[in-house]
Formats: sequence, structure tokens, C-alpha cells
Amino acid sequence: MIEKIQRIREEIEALKVSKSEDLEAIRIKYLSKKGEISQLFNDFRSVAADQKREVGKQLNELKERAVEKLNELKSEFEDTHSDEQNIDLTRTAYPIPMGSHHPLSLVKNEICDIFGRLGFSIAEGPEIEDDWHVFSALNFAQDHPARDMQDTFFIQRSPDILLRTHTSSVQTRTMEHAQPPIRIICPGRVYRNEAISYRAHCFFHQVEALYVDKNVSFADLKQALLYFAKEMFGSETQIRLRPSYFPFTEPSAEMDISCNICGGKGCAFCKHTGWVEILGCGMVDPNVLDACGIDSKVYSGYALGMGIERITNLKYKVKDLRMFSENDVRFLEEFESAH
Ligand code: DAH
Repeated sequence: MIEKIQRIREEIEALKVSKSEDLEAIRIKYLSKKGEISQLFNDFRSVAADQKREVGKQLNELKERAVEKLNELKSEFEDTHSDEQNIDLTRTAYPIPMGSHHPLSLVKNEICDIFGRLGFSIAEGPEIEDDWHVFSALNFAQDHPARDMQDTFFIQRSPDILLRTHTSSVQTRTMEHAQPPIRIICPGRVYRNEAISYRAHCFFHQVEALYVDKNVSFADLKQALLYFAKEMFGSETQIRLRPSYFPFTEPSAEMDISCNICGGKGCAFCKHTGWVEILGCGMVDPNVLDACGIDSKVYSGYALGMGIERITNLKYKVKDLRMFSENDVRFLEEFESAH
């Protein structure tokens, strides 16, 4: 009996596996009900009483070792063989480089974060719009030149379907469905029929902000603008508001920031004025509130809109607008560290 145990033990130690079926064959040969080791347990009954202790010990050790060996062979086999079938020979041998955020996304996210800290939440609207949401509800006169074929891409005439020329259309859509207080920031792509050059494109990006509530005043607008400018361009930044005109705001203004290159002293970038224009803003015209179903006698609001490309140019000094949509990886890689 002892000899038999010894022999099986040596056999087991020498076992090798070349295909997966071998594993099952080994289990059957040694460990199944009718296997050799089970057979030895049967024979164990007839072992002389004075040898039972020693033989029993060796027999148990043999069984333990057999189970252990089978597991070893199994994991060895899986380690060396399992990948073979799964190898993707079409995969590139070169590491795939990490991408980075597009500069316009970086700036858009930063603008949204700043307004987010003031309690604004993000609202979005469609890029294919109708005349009402882009122009009429925003108090544009029927013959306003912005509607000209020169400026607007029309998809269909009467009823007019067009590519939105500004994100102010999201104001209209939001006010139609929500009652004040409304505090939204609307980032998105807009389209204009412009000749493409280093300073103009037929599509670009804007962010619009709208706040409507009881007792919203121009002072609230100015404070929000100052906070935004300092957060975006640094705490030294100063702002200046110049009177302007937009059909949807009254009064309207354009905001300049102190030139962040020369600090306001005057340089080629700010055309020696010390100031750079960055956005349009104003108090929402009562006609707009009423057109969208908000009582202008109870509520007032402010709105502002800015071009993301413009802010990005100011922050990162990108001279040619076309770079943003050329997908040149060398350009995009420049912004990897800006995350
Ligand atoms: N929609 C304007 C444009 O595209 C930008 C703008 C100006 C938006 C003033 C506003 C605003 O909300 O109050 O030029």
C-alpha cells in the first residue's frame, strides 16, 4: 500500500498538461469516485490495524497533494494559453496617446463654472430654430437686417426655419416654459453667413446668461459682470460698460475689460486703448418678457451674451480663429497642461 501511494505521488509530481482536456483526464484518473486515489481509500479498510495510522496519514497527504497539483496545473495552463485566442492582431503596437480638452471646451466649462457659483444652471436649446425664438420673440423688428440672407442661414422660408445666429434663443425657450426666478447659462454653437477668415467663421460658440426675478436691477448685472471678469481674467481686472443697442435689452451695454496684456497701459493688442471688448448685456426688454409669458410689470431681468472664441483668444492668445476647427493635433496638444 505504502509503495502504491509512493508511486502515484511520483506520477502526480511529474504530470504535465498540453491541452485543456488533459486537466479533466487527470481529475478522472486520480480524483473521481472510481479514480486511483478513491480506490486506495477503499483498500485502506483491509490495512492491518497497527499500520492504519501511518498509511492513513500518507493517503490523506496524497489526496491533498493531488488536488493542489491539479489546481496548479490549471492556473499554469490558463496563464500560458488563455490569451492566445484573444489576441487582437489588428491592434496598434504603439501606445494610444491621451487626448485633451479642446480649448473652447476648457473656456466654456470655466465660464459655466463661474456662473454656476452664482447659482446659474445650464440650459440648452436646438441649433435648428424658427424665426420666433431667434428673432421675433426677442423684439427684432420685421425688417431687422440680422434676418438678411447675408447673416442668417435659412433652411426654409415661411414658415422660417434657420440655424440660430445666437444663443439668445435659449432665453426665449426657457422663459416660455418656466416662471421666475430663472437663472440660466446657455452655452452652444451658433451660425452666421460670414466669409471665413482669421477673424470670422460661419459657426462659432456663445454663452448666454439670463436672470429674471422680482426687483432685478442694473446694479445686480454690474456686480455679476465684475465677479465674472475677476474670476475669469484675474482679480486685478477692471470692467467698463459702454452704452449700446440690442433689440432684446433696454438699456443695453457692451462690456470691456482692462487689457490683460498691458494691464490697461495701452499696447498693440488693445489698440492702445487699455480696454478690450468682451460681451454684450442689458436689462431684458419688457416686450421680451411679455412675449414669453412673463408679466413685465411684476418681473425684471438682466441678460448677457459672449463669444467663447473671443474669450479663448484673450486667454490663450490664439490669433487665427480657424485653428479652433481644423483639428490639428499639434495645436490641440498645446492645451494639455491647461486642464
Ligand atoms: N445675442 C447677442 C449677439 O449675438 C449677444 C447678446 C447681447 C446677448 C446682449 C444678450 C445680451 O443676452 O443681453 O450678438
